Amino acid sequence: MLFDTHAHYYDERFDSDRDELLTALPEQGVELVLCPGCDLPSSRSCVELAERYPYIYAAVGVHPGDCGNWMDEDLAKLRDLAVHPKVRAIGEIGLDYYWKDNPPKEFQQNVFRRQLELAQALHLPVIVHDREAHGDSLAIVKEFPEVTGVFHCYSGSVEMARELVALGWYLGFDGPVTYKNARKALEVLEAVPLERILVETDAPYMAPEPFRGRRNHSGYVYRMAETVAQVKGLSTEEAERQTTANGRRLFSIV
Ligand code: NI
Repeated sequence: MLFDTHAHYYDERFDSDRDELLTALPEQGVELVLCPGCDLPSSRSCVELAERYPYIYAAVGVHPGDCGNWMDEDLAKLRDLAVHPKVRAIGEIGLDYYWKDNPPKEFQQNVFRRQLELAQALHLPVIVHDREAHGDSLAIVKEFPEVTGVFHCYSGSVEMARELVALGWYLGFDGPVTYKNARKALEVLEAVPLERILVETDAPYMAPEPFRGRRNHSGYVYRMAETVAQVKGLSTEEAERQTTANGRRLFSIV
């Protein structure tokens, strides 16, 4: 059984069949899903989904690409959402220097720090989005040694992966590990201990091979578990069992 630790089911691309799709997940071998928000409205939607489905949990947070209108009052609103019993992380939060239209770096860094402080105060893990911002992301999380979590869709170096693992972090692997040009991500997968690996879809984005280009969903997360199994020399069942146990441990789901 699988745990998709990163899927955005509030996305409008699921509006036509969300209930049907989510209801069918257990029979597709998916026993748990964690749905992270990207702003306040989507964080609220994640909590609502978590209330409706026993196997869905939520994270609440403001994504670096969506933080342009951030006001410090938003922190109190996030905190109100985060105390819900099915909210198990602050996320997704972080830095994204890839898109030129994103808010300025210093602004993103401020919003990231405010949310790491919230996670620390609430003793919650965080879900970090780090795109083209590896050095700053690592430096900022190191300012909060009590906070750990997952670097979602990990795209940094092997060296940074080893450092994060030593600091207690987990790494999330998504569709790109199944792509033909995945050499670097596979090297990272090989280098990090199995106990710190999570499998994610980032649905509706980044569908794995052979579904690349389609709308992604948790029913495809087995492809990431198969890749973990291949790289680590395990059976697929063992990779599924271990990555699910990892997700349960990180997000305190017993
Ligand atoms: Ni995401």
